[in-house]
Amino acid sequence: MLNWDDYGKEENTITAVSNPEPVKVPEIKVEVEVPVMTDIEAPARQAKPIEEGSRAKIAREAIKNLDETAGNEELDGGMGRVQVDEKMMINCKADLNQLVPMKYDWAWQKYLDGSANHWMPQEVNMTSDIVLWKSEDGLTEDERTIVKRNLGFFSTADSLVANNLVLALYRLITNPECRQYILRQSLEEAIHTHAYQYCIESLGMDEGEIFNMYREIPCVARKASWGLKYTQEISDPDFKTGTVETDKQLLKNLIAFYCVLEGIFFYCGFTQILSMGRRNKMTGTSEQFQYILRDESMHVNFGIDVINQIKIENPHLWDEEMKNEAAQMILEGTELEIMYARDTMPRGVLGMNAAMMEEYLKFIANRRLTQIGLDEEFKGVTNPFPWMSEIIDLRKEKNFFETRVTEYQVGGALNWE
Ligand SMILES: [Fe+2]
Ligand SMILES: [Fe+2]
Repeated sequence: MLNWDDYGKEENTITAVSNPEPVKVPEIKVEVEVPVMTDIEAPARQAKPIEEGSRAKIAREAIKNLDETAGNEELDGGMGRVQVDEKMMINCKADLNQLVPMKYDWAWQKYLDGSANHWMPQEVNMTSDIVLWKSEDGLTEDERTIVKRNLGFFSTADSLVANNLVLALYRLITNPECRQYILRQSLEEAIHTHAYQYCIESLGMDEGEIFNMYREIPCVARKASWGLKYTQEISDPDFKTGTVETDKQLLKNLIAFYCVLEGIFFYCGFTQILSMGRRNKMTGTSEQFQYILRDESMHVNFGIDVINQIKIENPHLWDEEMKNEAAQMILEGTELEIMYARDTMPRGVLGMNAAMMEEYLKFIANRRLTQIGLDEEFKGVTNPFPWMSEIIDLRKEKNFFETRVTEYQVGGALNWE
């Protein structure tokens, strides 16, 4: 790490070049060739006039006349130092540029955990997938449909989530530690879109066909348009929270995206692709999906914590009408995902079928309902895919498939053993 002492040492070494009796200093290797400069030459060089363009003068004048009051208003400069009790999830009046003192430690911890799980799609080996995808009898038609449909849905779904975060949600969540996590999540969504694009490109798929499924294939399009209407409600730059109606609209957006889009709409596809990996097929694609699922389960947990915190701080929003609406949204999402399961699995495939997936989705729906304090809807359902829970809980040091990730090195490759 650099410190000011190092700068002093380096200066002494340079002086030693022209001084007949140099001060003894530890030898420091300087790679750059340093020109010899005498004491007589140096002032002359410094005195050399610098020609300035006309814009520098205008900039200097502008700074002289800077009106700081306008900027301070924007920075909430008049509010002073933030006290932790002033912080609130929505409609907070305290300065949002002050990260500390923190109120919601769980949000900061998720930011740290997400950062510790950082990964990039190019680090996953896709070679065996390419061979299998291009071989004529490598996969059945039903298996090929599953790969294409899921890459089609996910390649645009993560963009919808990212757009909702940065164009709608970020502005309205008035807490810096949560915003910090939202920024982390936004990066992860970009990485997920990259991962899908990377799979599509590696496998040599028709990009136009895959990227347009969210408009052209009904079971995919329905899910996308269901989510989009909740972004539309709050992404208007003039939209403001602060009334019961608008606060509820924001709450509905959070439920739509965290509980339904990321919390239900991803689960049929994740299960199908991971089941393929468990059967040693499309292992690279499946590995990408495992990393994504690990990120997504944290996104869902973050969103649920945000929803529950808003409920604690604004109990008047969580009335019977809102509870019914929230339950309705989760059940509508479940219905759409069941339709997606039927469409992508007209027959049994990969040791599963649409009926098993329906039970799994009802199991997930019960979980989403109870996570935000609502009653279960489907009595007596069990999880037909317990191995999915194991993968969701996977920590980076745990085994999955034949590989084990031990450390992430920024700018380098993952270490596998
Ligand atoms: Fe994602
Ligand atoms: Fe996500």
